[in-house]
Amino acid sequence: MKSFYLTTAIDYVNGSPHLGHVYEKVLGDVIARSRRMMGADVYFLTGTDEHGQKIQQSARAKAVPTQEFVDSIAQEFVALTKLLNLSNDDFIRTTESRHKQVVCDLLQKLYDKGEIYRAEYQGFYSTRQEQFLQKKDRLSSGHWPETFGDVTEITESNYFFKLGNYQDWLIKHIEMHEDFVFPAHSRKLLLEFLSEPLNDLCISRPCERLEWGIPLPFDENYVTYVWFDALTNYYSAVAGKGRWPADCHIIGKDILAPPHGIYWPIILQACELEVPRTLLVHGWWSINGAKMSKSTGNYVDPVDFCSKWSVDSMRYFLIREMVIGQDSDFSMEQFLKRYNGELANDLGNLVNRTLNMTQRYAGGVVPLADSDEDPEKTIRALWVQTCDEVMKLIENFQFHTVLEKIFFFVKAINRYAELRAPWKLAKDTSSKGQALLCTSLATTAEALRLAATLLWPVMPTVADKIRACLGQPALARWESELNWTNRLDGVKLTSVEILFPKTQPVPVPWKSFQPTWPRMQIQRCCANFWSSVSCLRVKPVVRG
Ligand code: MSP
Repeated sequence: MKSFYLTTAIDYVNGSPHLGHVYEKVLGDVIARSRRMMGADVYFLTGTDEHGQKIQQSARAKAVPTQEFVDSIAQEFVALTKLLNLSNDDFIRTTESRHKQVVCDLLQKLYDKGEIYRAEYQGFYSTRQEQFLQKKDRLSSGHWPETFGDVTEITESNYFFKLGNYQDWLIKHIEMHEDFVFPAHSRKLLLEFLSEPLNDLCISRPCERLEWGIPLPFDENYVTYVWFDALTNYYSAVAGKGRWPADCHIIGKDILAPPHGIYWPIILQACELEVPRTLLVHGWWSINGAKMSKSTGNYVDPVDFCSKWSVDSMRYFLIREMVIGQDSDFSMEQFLKRYNGELANDLGNLVNRTLNMTQRYAGGVVPLADSDEDPEKTIRALWVQTCDEVMKLIENFQFHTVLEKIFFFVKAINRYAELRAPWKLAKDTSSKGQALLCTSLATTAEALRLAATLLWPVMPTVADKIRACLGQPALARWESELNWTNRLDGVKLTSVEILFPKTQPVPVPWKSFQPTWPRMQIQRCCANFWSSVSCLRVKPVVRG
């Protein structure tokens, strides 16, 4: 069985998770579930990044001991994996001893090999980014970009890793392995970054400045630089499990160059370990065009969102909406459009009509397809094509198009049902009419079973419910499950609750107010709106 080791970035525990964090974890879960269905032996890892200055500062700001602080936020992230129905095999925290031990082993190995040296550093340091800055980072005005926060000039003795020695090797590696970075434009950006000479990497921080880290195994006056520590999680979580190298690291575009695209492959190469096969780089979710982020107060709360709209509808929206590698702007209007249109109208109605028609015209038992004419041949051919295309799209990480194809098929099933119109055939007592009635009910039910089965990695709960009401067991592998058969022949269907209760599109108050509206009407409009968007924490846009 082909092994497939997949990871997400590990989140900082300096604040609670938002929808941007959630997207990456859901994407990881969709990939993990799809690959398992395809027969791979998947290992899916996620976790939390718990050391460093930002976290030490956040704990101090709350006047809580740092360990207590990280324990409580890490629990929120663990709870989120359950809420999102993630199928992760492990959850790693960088404060765990199994991780710290591996970080020390790698550092010691590099030190013994002469890859780490001590030197005096004089220059600028950004506390916010926990990073030494270079001349090229400075704006032409002489100021530092906002992302660096407060920048101070320091002179400090530190340990450096000989990153620069590996620059030519890395460029060659990226050039020879086209699939090392996906999508292609991220690979191009990484190569552009490498067109400038690489400085050696400072991998230590003196304890007087930062206590909250892993002490260097060869000098206890220093702790490990947070990126060296964090990146190692991918390896430490599977040390001794025979899983290395990773097949896919999912990361946001902000952490490609330099951490994942440069530091990580070079650290591995210097440690004589294999480098990961693919870095899958996704874009950012924004609201009103500004990056979603807890620190700016511009975000969607995933827990509120799921309790209002269901986990699977959120999973569907995130995967349907974002093209991997591009940014997406989150809007409630767009969510409701997809929820009411694709989920409630197309899929929800198909489930209801399949159950109702089978109940009404066949006593709730799926009959045997008794004829095979053009409409049946057409929908079957569409299924074969959809299934073929979806498998290739999954391999190529095109999940938004996977959903587009599946929903094209769902719509086609609805059209098929309307064309055959079992409600008319039921009135036709001729043997041809009755045969067609049986065929139309069987065809609709089988097509729905197949659509739900293919949808499972994105919407596992909904797909399981649909399959259960069609009398199907829980899925283990796709294998023969995706073949068009008459396995539903004679199956008694059971009812299911409404999968996607329909909601009225909520009018945005400032777009719908009329000068003639009485006060009550304005208040009602605002109340409806706020209740629908209570999961959004959006900073007011100040214009003019
Ligand atoms: N701790 C580091 C990652 C270390 S991996 C060895 C980190 N943490 S983070 O909490 O800031 O971000 C975690 C992941 O969430 C990153 O991949 C980041 O790109 C992603 N996102 C954070 N905000 C995001 C959006 N608004 N939209 C999409 N993803 C975003 O970086």
